[in-house]
Amino acid sequence: MSFLTGADMYGGYGGGDILRGCTVAVDKGEIVVMVGPNGAGKSTAMKALFGMVRLRRGEVRLAGQAITQLSPQGRVRRGMAFVPQTGNIFTTMTVQENLEMGAFLRRDDISESMERVFGLFPVLGEKRRQTAGELSGGQRQQVAIGRALMTQPAVLMLDEPTAGVAPIVMDELFDRILEIRQAGIAVLMVEQNARQALAIADRGFVLVTGENRFTDSGRALLTNPEVRRSFLGG
Ligand SMILES: Nc1ncnc2c1ncn2[C@@H]1O[C@H](COP(=O)(O)OP(=O)(O)O)[C@@H](O)[C@H]1O
Ligand SMILES: [Mg+2]
Repeated sequence: MSFLTGADMYGGYGGGDILRGCTVAVDKGEIVVMVGPNGAGKSTAMKALFGMVRLRRGEVRLAGQAITQLSPQGRVRRGMAFVPQTGNIFTTMTVQENLEMGAFLRRDDISESMERVFGLFPVLGEKRRQTAGELSGGQRQQVAIGRALMTQPAVLMLDEPTAGVAPIVMDELFDRILEIRQAGIAVLMVEQNARQALAIADRGFVLVTGENRFTDSGRALLTNPEVRRSFLGG
């Protein structure tokens, strides 16, 4: 059993099931990437892991305990952080205020965590007093990830962290995500840039219509002819 596992998940938004038995798992110090076509249920799977979508069947386990009924806030307290695909920063607040908001559950001194975020993303330190809405797309994603790191998570879940950013900015973000893994954090991310993401992934899941189609190491998925043809554009 992995550190975080969503096992045999079924559920959706009240209509039919969007998740149809899918399983995703990630361990500490590992990057796991979820790929698949638009509408496959990747974001829904992330939301289910974080307690934002109710499961009709299946369970979520964290550090050996079932947390299926726990609220998202309860999951944050247990060490989970989630950066959703959209609306993941407060655009009218400064960079620093965004990071402070990320630490809202903490009662201890957060200055060290903030310095660590500025160490990982130096541009955020330079722009700490600027409004987040003034930043570039890549910098906003850094704010969103930085905000999630302020909770000192054991698991970091990222839904399309490189959406809408230039290729060079994507490479840069992936390098930072590798550093986050290096710190022993479990990283689970959904990515449209499947090739590049699988290249840095320890493991990958290909999700189709709410089910696992392929599960393997990032490298094996990248070289699998069927995966390449159907999901990586040849
Ligand atoms: N809030 C919602 N309410 C109802 N249906 C939704 C909602 N969010 C997503 N869906 C539907 O669930 C399916 C899977 O969506 P999603 O998980 O966002 O896919 P992916 O992230 O793989 O592109 C889609 O058919 C989508 O229309
Ligand atoms: Mg999505």
